[in-house]
Amino acid sequence: MSEIKLTIDDEQIEVEEGITVLDAARKAGIEIPSLCYHPDLTLHGACRVCEVEDLGNDRTIASCVTPVQEGMIISTRSRRARKARRRNVTLLLANHPNDCLGCDRSGSCELQDIAHDLSIRTREIEKYEGEKRDVPEDRTGPALVREPNKCILCGRCVRVCEEMQGVSALQFSRRGFDSIVSTAFDLPQSEVNCSNCGQCATICPVGAIVEKNEIYPVWQALEDEDKHVIVQTAPSIQAT
Ligand code: FES
Repeated sequence: MSEIKLTIDDEQIEVEEGITVLDAARKAGIEIPSLCYHPDLTLHGACRVCEVEDLGNDRTIASCVTPVQEGMIISTRSRRARKARRRNVTLLLANHPNDCLGCDRSGSCELQDIAHDLSIRTREIEKYEGEKRDVPEDRTGPALVREPNKCILCGRCVRVCEEMQGVSALQFSRRGFDSIVSTAFDLPQSEVNCSNCGQCATICPVGAIVEKNEIYPVWQALEDEDKHVIVQTAPSIQAT
């Protein structure tokens, strides 16, 4: 495979043809934030949190889905790139519950981390105040809780369920503003072919799918008593 030469943040790098600008940057130790991207899954290009400036073509691009090209000059730190990322994250936050303290994922939420890194303030989010998604949570399954109002539609759960688990218990549903990730025909979690493997909860960057905390104390108590129990194996996929 031939090599491609490009410049990212004034650093000249050489990478193999076919990889994306995001992968090229990370290989060079340059960090670009991302949410819908996951190295083990197919590319999706939905959140646009990974935008960078393509100086040679006077545009911003989603770095996770743009293949490297010979002679590209990329800036991840230009005013235009930072502004684009900031706008996209602010829009995600504007349609997201703002009660982080009450969320199971607070402290391990990728959206929260990125918003913090970009120093996005509440008043910036309030500029986009409007109708928010209002879909009831689903606690009917034995192991998982789905909270669609927290979903950022990154699709990582849909892809891991289909591509790695081969189950396809989750899918995108409805259209436009009403789009959500749901089960087939919006059935309750307890009535679909979910294997309760927990990969969707592990890979969810926010708190839209979490494991039921209630079940852990029971397992822990049994383990503590040194009884022979089958416990859930550790999830095999990393969040990022
Ligand atoms: Fe690139 Fe979401 S991480 S579009």
